[in-house]
Amino acid sequence: MKTKTAILGASWGDECKARLTHSLASRFDWVVKFNGGANCGATVYVNGKKYVHHLTPVIDCTNPDTKGFLGAGMAIHPPALLEELEMLEKDFPGYSKRLAVDPDAFAVMSAHIEEDKVKNAHIGTTNRGVGPTYTSKVDRRGTKIKKLLGSSNEYSDVLKKISDMGVQFKHSLELKNEFTDSRILFEGSQSVMLDINHGNYPFVTSSDCTVSGIYSSGFNFIRVDRAIGVAKAYTTRVGNGPFPTELEGEEAEKLRERGSEYGASTGRPRRVGWLDLPQLRYAVAKGGITCLTLAKLDILNGMKFVPVADSYHDGEPMSGSDFFDRKPHLVNVPGWSDASTLDKNVMNFVNYVEKSVGVPVDFVSTGVNPSDLHRL
Ligand code: IMP
Ligand code: MG
Repeated sequence: MKTKTAILGASWGDECKARLTHSLASRFDWVVKFNGGANCGATVYVNGKKYVHHLTPVIDCTNPDTKGFLGAGMAIHPPALLEELEMLEKDFPGYSKRLAVDPDAFAVMSAHIEEDKVKNAHIGTTNRGVGPTYTSKVDRRGTKIKKLLGSSNEYSDVLKKISDMGVQFKHSLELKNEFTDSRILFEGSQSVMLDINHGNYPFVTSSDCTVSGIYSSGFNFIRVDRAIGVAKAYTTRVGNGPFPTELEGEEAEKLRERGSEYGASTGRPRRVGWLDLPQLRYAVAKGGITCLTLAKLDILNGMKFVPVADSYHDGEPMSGSDFFDRKPHLVNVPGWSDASTLDKNVMNFVNYVEKSVGVPVDFVSTGVNPSDLHRL
């Protein structure tokens, strides 16, 4: 069987998954999204220009051979999809023809967005209506895209435009033979720590962000042979909920500025802290992650020592609820002046993470250019 690789968030989202997806996309026939909605923001640079994908998969826009699929586990807001397609069509004509949407995905209706704003402020949601859409799904009163395609509704015109642009509506099973015989990159949204089942409930998103989300979105006919968990060399979180290695005050401000840590979907300043190894061990085990990518090592350039949490004073977390009020035990790992050299200290840091987490680090990223992604 041709390779089936997944990219999953190994922390609280915004781990630079998109930069890895974008770099690898050309080696795959399909990039498939399976969870979440316009709550995520995947930032990529093409020829120096910045693009933020929310609903569309991060395929290589310049390579007409890669195709994108929006799976049944997603919560899709048709106007947001149309807006994104129009933005991408301008620079990459024909982009929409390379996309297919599973009609079993659920639609985010405008009432869901209103409900998100009113009911979920205490979680710090992105207000994209994602939670209320999944709530209606589980409560068996949701609206599948399929139902909207055959009736007159608030999105009739929008869906007609999307279809006229060339987007196809196809179930994963209709493409079963093609998918089985293709190289697929599954692009996870959010992250294991925000997963509805295994994240820090209730400070979670409403979808399945682990490898099992791929299967439940209609892909039980394939097996994922590699799941790459992406983490930064430090940690960030946007929205509320526990964050054991969080920094405060000036130290936080400095790291936030250096890393440009502001939300891609909402512009909110991200909370920042040090790399958290108990958290990564938890995400690897609960997420089904088989190897790691460490991103943004360059942001820590010039630090004499890089603090890392090697354990919690209160024991190893076994559940998403075990991250509340935990005190991290920090160790200082020798720093580096230029991460891109992959010198002794950089590799020492990488090896330390591998040993502590128990899976290999396959890639490190030291900047936004394609040449800044290093395969180890
Ligand atoms: P929701 O997914 O909009 O319902 O938000 C639930 C929680 O997940 C909030 O804390 C959000 O900030 C967080 N969240 C949702 N999507 C992302 C993402 O793509 N990156 C980081 N955090 C996210
Ligand atoms: Mg993001």
